[in-house]
Amino acid sequence: MRVDVVTLFPEMFAGPFGQSIIGRAIEQGRLDVSFVNPRDFTSDRHRTVDDYPYGGGPGMVMKPEPLFLAVESVARPASDVILMSPAGRVFSQLIAAELARREHLILVCGHYEGVDDRVREHLATDEISIGDYVLTGGELAAMVIVDAVARLLPGVLGHAESAGDESHSRGLLEYPQYTRPPEFRGWPVPGILLSGNHGEVARWRRRRSLERTAEQRPDLMTPDLAAELADDGTRLSRSAQKRAARAARLAAAEASSDEDQSG
Ligand code: ADE
Repeated sequence: MRVDVVTLFPEMFAGPFGQSIIGRAIEQGRLDVSFVNPRDFTSDRHRTVDDYPYGGGPGMVMKPEPLFLAVESVARPASDVILMSPAGRVFSQLIAAELARREHLILVCGHYEGVDDRVREHLATDEISIGDYVLTGGELAAMVIVDAVARLLPGVLGHAESAGDESHSRGLLEYPQYTRPPEFRGWPVPGILLSGNHGEVARWRRRRSLERTAEQRPDLMTPDLAAELADDGTRLSRSAQKRAARAARLAAAEASSDEDQSG
């Protein structure tokens, strides 16, 4: 996959992209990341990339022309032009998987108070936020997206690092993991994991995934998951049972209001 990052601060990426799994993916040629600096597409003496907002207000706004020219210098017909913005659709594992199937991503990093809206309207094909908070610029968001997408590309994770069972990969949080020693500071590893009984281990993991999701992220519980958990709810703490029951009610209410809307 090819990724072009449009940024005023390409040096910010050297650390994260030079290390570990992403560094290895780039070295192996599975991921090809380049940087385009909008400042190189200015024509005035001061290489101006921002200006005062029309209508007044605080801060500066990024000018459209350097961003259009920077994107156009690398765009191909198959490119996705993604504007990093706190106002975009919220990034998720599902969106990471969707982007991992694309050929060429152009990630546009905004700065200052914002970006002239003609960039969003006439240049970007997508607008993504990494969460409901505001960063000083889009660079950290672009790093997050490249990291989450790159690890889904074929061959980037070794078998040992595989992306199969982890949190969010199947709509559930991951089950707890343990390694040696079997007892640490008096806290034992759950006995079932040492039993060698693969069927029991798989059942235990499924149950712990469901419990964890109900406790930590009730918003992810669907009616089917809540029902599965309720059938097997004997190990839940009382508060987790309450939360699971509430999640089940919420999920059921949501499902029936969706039905009302579509029918
Ligand atoms: N730029 C500033 N805040 C951002 C966010 N939350 N996500 C993506 N880009 C941003």
